[in-house]
Amino acid sequence: MIEFKNVSKTYDNREYVLNDVNLRIEDGEFVFIVGKSGSGKTTLTKLLLREEKVSSGRIVINGFRLDKMRKGKVPYLRREIGMVFQDFRLFPKKNVYENVAFAMQVIGASSSSIKKRVPFFLNLVGLSNKMKSFPTQLSGGEQQRVALARAIVNNPNIIIADEPTGNLDPEMSREIMDLLMTLNEKLGKTVIVVTHEQNLVSMCNKRVITIGEGGIVSDIPSHPCDFVKKDEEENLVEETGGAENEV
Ligand SMILES: Nc1ncnc2c1ncn2[C@@H]1O[C@H](COP(=O)(O)OP(=O)(O)O)[C@@H](O)[C@H]1O
Ligand SMILES: [Mg+2]
Repeated sequence: MIEFKNVSKTYDNREYVLNDVNLRIEDGEFVFIVGKSGSGKTTLTKLLLREEKVSSGRIVINGFRLDKMRKGKVPYLRREIGMVFQDFRLFPKKNVYENVAFAMQVIGASSSSIKKRVPFFLNLVGLSNKMKSFPTQLSGGEQQRVALARAIVNNPNIIIADEPTGNLDPEMSREIMDLLMTLNEKLGKTVIVVTHEQNLVSMCNKRVITIGEGGIVSDIPSHPCDFVKKDEEENLVEETGGAENEV
């Protein structure tokens, strides 16, 4: 569960990017966070990862109190969250396989688990044939997909994607959204998609939180929606469920 209680954030002690925001996202929800450029979407994700601290108020994620958290605890929080950054943040000197494997190495996963999970997740995002490529040799969309594979390889409970389709053509956008929805619907992951793209939001009737002017402008609940391809979802549940216990 994610909870914001009277959260305010200012970078310069003058203008508030977020001002007294209250928000609750339950486990297993799929939520779009939308808002104009500069409205504070990325700031919100940085607060969730504890890359930025609140100026006032309280944030609780899966029992972690972020506003009171000491630095040493931050890695434990981040294990709960798979983050796809707007600017990808891939390591330029590591190839695709190594970029994803590194996320597993830092949490001490066994090499047998790494050898099994990394190719599986790269296949899932359609990058089996690019494992040896370096980030500079990839298109923006391909880098995006590496970032997604890396975000989900450790099986986090919460997945946050900041503008995940910003660099993708419509077909690939649709596939990435399919994948995020499958992770939500079949594996019960909490998924938060931050976007300014209205057509992405209207593709499916999920909860939509709009932010602007320092606060939540609207919060529209989800409606049922049948979106995910059947064969893909069965394969995903089987594979990720099976490999899950080894990490
Ligand atoms: N590190 C920072 N220092 C100062 N101001 C910042 C910083 N990061 C973001 N801002 C400001 O906060 C506001 C919200 O930015 P951001 O969260 O990136 O918005 P969005 O992701 O919705 O485009 C903008 O006015 C931006 O200039
Ligand atoms: Mg942003």
